[in-house]
Amino acid sequence: MKKTALITGGGQGIGRALAVKFAENGYAVSLCDVDKEAGLEVVKHIRSFGGTALFLQVDVAAEEDVRRWVKLTANEFGRIDVLINNAGISRNASFLELTAEDFDRVIGVNLRGSFLCSREAARVMKESGGGSIVNLSSTRALMSEAGTEAYSASKGGILALTHAMAVSLGPDDIRVNAVSPGWIETRDWQLSSRVTTPHHSEQDKLQHPVGRVGIPYDIADLCVYLSSDQAGFITGQNFVVDGGMTIKMIYDE
Ligand SMILES: NC(=O)c1ccc[n+]([C@@H]2O[C@H](COP(=O)([O-])OP(=O)(O)OC[C@H]3O[C@@H](n4cnc5c(N)ncnc54)[C@H](O)[C@@H]3O)[C@@H](O)[C@H]2O)c1
Repeated sequence: MKKTALITGGGQGIGRALAVKFAENGYAVSLCDVDKEAGLEVVKHIRSFGGTALFLQVDVAAEEDVRRWVKLTANEFGRIDVLINNAGISRNASFLELTAEDFDRVIGVNLRGSFLCSREAARVMKESGGGSIVNLSSTRALMSEAGTEAYSASKGGILALTHAMAVSLGPDDIRVNAVSPGWIETRDWQLSSRVTTPHHSEQDKLQHPVGRVGIPYDIADLCVYLSSDQAGFITGQNFVVDGGMTIKMIYDE
């Protein structure tokens, strides 16, 4: 029986790369997304190279949707080994204009969604002998531009959720880690009809000590590693994947 990976927001962007990468590594992949067209396109692509995948249209903030998705996956694939809480949204606005509805929706998708998917998946993982959960946070959990309060708060919450769950779920052999991406270019990982060609200026690249903007596989490769047996002694941690952007000092001369 293949190991099974659940990917939220797997239709586009980093989630699309995660779904493809886990399938290439031999996992049966169950992806969910609010965008049905994008999700079904990913399933078709994975099946085209002999991989195993299923999709369900799910809003991760909706408890019943999440229950249905996890139950369907457990019934179809027989086990759950990995969950990547990737689905995320932002509603950037001037702080004084930020509405309570927008604040709640960002926290609802990013933080409540990660909690709901983790709880449901962990109940199944516990029965199948353990597993790995990776939560997508952001470098914006610890630093900000103006007007990003809802998103930053949700991502800070995800870091706290990560260490709390790592302690609670350790006895069930479930490891929980966070990955904090920096600037990852996702324009070429959208629904095929929405793909646009990215262009980055020299200044964009030079903000990064590695000399380039990130790509979705930079994140997906680490998530595959963190979910493997080789990472068995790693839990409760946050891994920054940003090409060094946040350790670079900038002095205006
Ligand atoms: N791209 C970056 O530079 C970057 C940087 C830091 C953190 N992140 C984080 O990585 C994750 C993926 O980001 P991305 O840039 O690939 O985003 P994206 O917008 O390209 O893709 C997100 C996917 O999640 C889906 N989604 C949105 N709301 C959902 C919901 N309620 N339920 C289920 N699916 C939903 C979308 O339809 C989309 O397919 C997010 O958590 C984001 O905060 C991204």
